[in-house]
Amino acid sequence: MTMTHPAADAIAVELLHRFRRVRARTEEIAEPLAPEDCVVQTMQDISPTKWHLAHVTWFFETFVLTPHLAGYRPLDERYAFLFNSYYVQAGPRHARDQRGYISRPTVSEVYAYRAWVDSHMQRLLEMEPLPALLQELVTIGLNHEQQHQELMVTDIKHVFSVNPLRPAYHERRPSPPSEVPPINWLTLSWEWIISGMRATTIRYAAPTRVIRVST
Ligand SMILES: [Fe+2]
Repeated sequence: MTMTHPAADAIAVELLHRFRRVRARTEEIAEPLAPEDCVVQTMQDISPTKWHLAHVTWFFETFVLTPHLAGYRPLDERYAFLFNSYYVQAGPRHARDQRGYISRPTVSEVYAYRAWVDSHMQRLLEMEPLPALLQELVTIGLNHEQQHQELMVTDIKHVFSVNPLRPAYHERRPSPPSEVPPINWLTLSWEWIISGMRATTIRYAAPTRVIRVST
């Protein structure tokens, strides 16, 4: 029986919770979207939401599960080609500017892929003790997924921006009415001060000036 330090256990539990939070947040961002929204690529510098959902999952599969979870088998080995981005050492990849050509796997199949990887990540994160290397790899994977959460938002904004129907990612929430206080003049005292450097050789960024300031 392996004895682990309580602090190490706490770190592993926190990492598992963080893993679940970040993965859930990604799906919350995609939640307002229809499947049709998730497959469109409106310019080469953006990626379909479906691709982001799968790519961040591929990252955990490729760099965490395959090398570190005994017996792990990818749900579909062909996904590696579709969902690699520019990781040359991870093998060949589909053309970035053609990600919008890909209708299969479907969006629901990509969610099944996420669930497959999540269930195996749960097993890995319950490993005792969780090696420091794995803690670091999982943290990198989570930071990578958070980076893609930002990209998901900017990319879907472009998808909607070129649609003549002007769809909204979500409806604007009405802001509560606010009371604006009446405008008044303020009486301030003031004095002259010398600002900037007094050196005679350097004037580049901080020239000497006499200015008037409120006190
Ligand atoms: Fe990435």
